Amino acid sequence: MNAAAQPININDDDKTAIMSRRTMVQASSALLSTGLAGLSMAQQSVAALPAGDTLMAPDDPAPVFMRVQLQVNGKRYPLNIDGRTTVLDALREHCGLKGSKKGCDHGQCGACTVISGGRRINSCLTLAVMHEGGKITTIEGLGTPENMHPMQRAFVKHDGYQCGYCTPGQICSAVAMLGELKADYVRTARSKGLPERDVIGRHVMRNALLPFVTIVGLMMANFIGGTVVTESVFTYPGLGRLLIQAISTRDYPLIQGCILFILVVFVLINLLVDVLYAYIDPRIDYG
Ligand code: FES
Repeated sequence: MNAAAQPININDDDKTAIMSRRTMVQASSALLSTGLAGLSMAQQSVAALPAGDTLMAPDDPAPVFMRVQLQVNGKRYPLNIDGRTTVLDALREHCGLKGSKKGCDHGQCGACTVISGGRRINSCLTLAVMHEGGKITTIEGLGTPENMHPMQRAFVKHDGYQCGYCTPGQICSAVAMLGELKADYVRTARSKGLPERDVIGRHVMRNALLPFVTIVGLMMANFIGGTVVTESVFTYPGLGRLLIQAISTRDYPLIQGCILFILVVFVLINLLVDVLYAYIDPRIDYG
């Protein structure tokens, strides 16, 4: 039986140190209200600005409009856009191709995936001006409802689209991934007589590991933050619950110790991600 399922024996001396649900809610509310107070102050600062002014840094450059010609799904789209426009915004707002979806807008979810030059890219992370003359394929260019791409048919047949929002990105990603199996380096590996398992595992999958490792590293921050809530709600003994207890009893050295430990763990995880980068991709050299 795990610790969470067992009743916890509490001595009278310890009772003050054990946090009730009410205390946890109070401590969480205090943390939340601190954040909300900061937000409210920021909103007041914005409201106090003269009409038309923004909170941009004084030396923020004005947008520079540029002429860009994108080739999307075999058609040319001459655009005059802010140089900071991403491919995703150019597709959705300027080309009228709404199939690629904006999820996180930070390169984490893949909903915006399109195919550029035969490779998958997160279109929210790349500028349209960088794709001048390049060929981009979006979900609209793969097939139509009447004449679907085989990958689209497979998604429909096997009910693979869940809520459907990020399905265009998943389909583009899958199409490009299968295209990757025809790349020169895969042909070279096969021509050397490597078994298919090694071709996929050591060459193809390895190339796909970098973004995966990046995301896992970033998600660790969420996991660590989540322990505070999970351990408090389910009364698991752990670091998160200890931190809440320390906050509720104003045990400042313990608070500092917990935060320092969390920071060290987070830094070590990111260091590990950096080391893994160099292992996965031999082109990365920190020397
Ligand atoms: S919108 Fe999430 S990766 Fe681009």
